Amino acid sequence: MPLGITHLAEEDFCLLELSAEGHLAADQMLADLHVLQEHGLDPVLDSVNGCSHPILGPYQRTDVGSWHVDSATAEADTWLCTYHGASSEGLFPEDAIPRIEMPEARAELLRLFGGRDDETFTEWLDEHFHDLHYAARESARPYVFGIGNLWRIATRHPEVAVPPCVHRAPDSALGQKRLLLIS
Ligand SMILES: [Fe+2]
Repeated sequence: MPLGITHLAEEDFCLLELSAEGHLAADQMLADLHVLQEHGLDPVLDSVNGCSHPILGPYQRTDVGSWHVDSATAEADTWLCTYHGASSEGLFPEDAIPRIEMPEARAELLRLFGGRDDETFTEWLDEHFHDLHYAARESARPYVFGIGNLWRIATRHPEVAVPPCVHRAPDSALGQKRLLLIS
């Protein structure tokens, strides 16, 4: 299996030689896929095999293994289910600090930007998704999404009153194979 993310098409499931338990698992994944499709969503099944890009320092990384919120251009939620491997984790809003508000992180990002802390810098932070990333407070108690649980999590959008869900793929997932549904 190639490193990184491989999308699994429904047809791929017919080609698999599966045990009885494997069939049960595949049936459940396809059932979840169909339920979301019936609700007008466009879910994908992803097989994740490690990470295909270098991991940056904690103040610079913007990959899914860093605490973040999803943003949407329209009012929408993210649907997420881990079927195999380390599951996603969540952070309560009060346990999350926006990274760009942390003086050390902001200074490091400003150095990377190479300019002044002005409107252009703010735009640069948005363009590079740094505004979507968070750090966990020392006292934070992350919760685990678990295996086989289909989560509907709030995204950041001006029309959504609910705080967006801060989440991540745990670091333990980096070297592991994972099977996920995302919509
Ligand atoms: Fe996400």
